[in-house]
Amino acid sequence: MPAIRPGARGAVISGWGTALPEKIVTNDELAATMDTSDEWIQARTGIKERRIGGTTIGLSVDSGRQALEMAGLEPSRIDALVLSTTTPDWQWGNAAAVQNELDLFCGAFDVNAACSGFVYALVTAHGLVAMGADRVLVIGTDTLSRITDWDDRATAPLFADGSGAVVIESVDGPGQLLGWDLDADGSALPILQADVGGTIKMEGQEVFRRAVRIMVDSAEKSMLHAGVHPEEVKLVVPHQANIRIIQAACDRLGIPIERAAVVIDTTGNTSSASIPLAMADALETGRVQNGDLLLLVGFGGGMTAASCVLRWGGGVE
Ligand code: ACO
Repeated sequence: MPAIRPGARGAVISGWGTALPEKIVTNDELAATMDTSDEWIQARTGIKERRIGGTTIGLSVDSGRQALEMAGLEPSRIDALVLSTTTPDWQWGNAAAVQNELDLFCGAFDVNAACSGFVYALVTAHGLVAMGADRVLVIGTDTLSRITDWDDRATAPLFADGSGAVVIESVDGPGQLLGWDLDADGSALPILQADVGGTIKMEGQEVFRRAVRIMVDSAEKSMLHAGVHPEEVKLVVPHQANIRIIQAACDRLGIPIERAAVVIDTTGNTSSASIPLAMADALETGRVQNGDLLLLVGFGGGMTAASCVLRWGGGVE
């Protein structure tokens, strides 16, 4: 992937929001319906509980509204809405439905790059800013529970529902995005798939093995383009698929896992929502200050991978 051209118009995140369904499903509750245990799920994945429920459009409206409120923006000021989801409510028009419910007057489109989708959407939004948009709402939402086979113990403990959103606003100067990478390897599509109308089928160990490799590869490309070394990264915000994948990726990147944002224990794998949910948690717990370097990195079905390096607050130290 190319480096950012010098002089490209930049942006910063000016607001964020999250939405999770009310219903909590614990590992013990799952173990009451299938041959598994809290101990197995926690040890193999890091997940203790997950949130189940809602619709992709409904959760997106909730997180999007919060992001607009935090940014202090009237809906009419948004120039574009990008919705990342791999579990749309409708074949098309999901972003448009969110646009309508939020009273936005702008273009709105869906992006589907599975669990890498939020970073794909965020990079796309920066491209829109470079082309003249001033304010873009980016939402990552998935309702994976609707495409989960609840009789399959190999996948059911992993997947869940949620939404996260950010508003990015144009700034004078380069802004927050220092480097980015979008990647795909369609030859690996069969190892993680869902037929239209079907449920998730996965070769877990093969996904695990490749996930670590493509996350590390993508993160290294973004850091190279950004001119940033791993020791300078204040916070890694990884896709929340499995704590052991996060640990292995951090080890290979040379970044202590203590510098990773982790919410998988309470959210499970929420696909497009997992990176914005983890980032929002880190922001709200005071882990990020102006000038800090963030490395967002995800992987997903396709297989896809995506990463970017952000300087929080843009050029402000
Ligand atoms: N409870 C108890 N035992 C289980 C369960 C369960 N829920 N699931 C599998 N097992 C058993 C298996 O049957 C197997 O038993 P055996 O040894 O008698 O054959 C044993 O546990 C080990 O199974 P593995 O598949 O080897 O377990 P592993 O350590 O690989 O963990 C897991 C499985 C958690 C799925 C792991 O492979 C993983 O996380 N893979 C990556 C998944 C992922 O990240 N997916 C992302 C999707 S992103 C997107 O785009 C949707």
